[in-house]
Amino acid sequence: MKKMLNVALPKGRLGEKVYNMFEKAGFECPSIKENNRKLIFENEETMVRYFWVKPSDVAIYVERGAADIGVAGKDILLEYEPEVYELLDLDLGKCRMAVAAKKDFRDNPQKTLRVATKFTNIAQQYYMSKGRDIDIIHLNGSIEIAPILDLSDVIVDIVETGTTLKENNLEVFETIVPISARLIANKSSYIFKNEQITKIAEEISKQLEA
Ligand code: PRP
Repeated sequence: MKKMLNVALPKGRLGEKVYNMFEKAGFECPSIKENNRKLIFENEETMVRYFWVKPSDVAIYVERGAADIGVAGKDILLEYEPEVYELLDLDLGKCRMAVAAKKDFRDNPQKTLRVATKFTNIAQQYYMSKGRDIDIIHLNGSIEIAPILDLSDVIVDIVETGTTLKENNLEVFETIVPISARLIANKSSYIFKNEQITKIAEEISKQLEA
């Protein structure tokens, strides 16, 4: 007997695009389109159960097997390094991880660089690879304020359109890595629900080629 496939979707605009891809791939679940505050939806015909979670939590659900598959940003995968398989680049939610600072900022290599970020691990690895000594300041949001108030010299953050930086008189100094949404799978689900997971990955990759 076929088992229910549990899918963690990132709540928000990206998640809706992602659901449409799954629907086209043959895993529809019409009840998800009803406008209500429910978080879990299932379809016993297509044997799929979707749930909306905070985008940054998708990888945890998948790593621990509460979800068999899900869609997470490459930023989260690089930051938390969850033990999951990365199956596909969905070419959605594209942005980049970048170092930004005030326009007049000049790096003085003699001094420890103060870096404000939500992405501590990414920032640490990036500067370690450059042999640069840094002081990490972990913040949870509104990172752009840090250099303005001289809490930090630079920030490491996501840049999409660049509007947030511009409106706060900051600019990109270096791009660390391009980011996009990835289809990820739990490692044991990938073995035990291989047929369903492979089908989804194949159908979605056909959509991406078209
Ligand atoms: C991200 C990021 C920037 C902004 C960049 O924040 O931290 O603040 O988007 O986008 P832009 O280049 O198009 O202006 P997000 O909106 O995800 O919220 P957060 O502060 O909670 O991370």
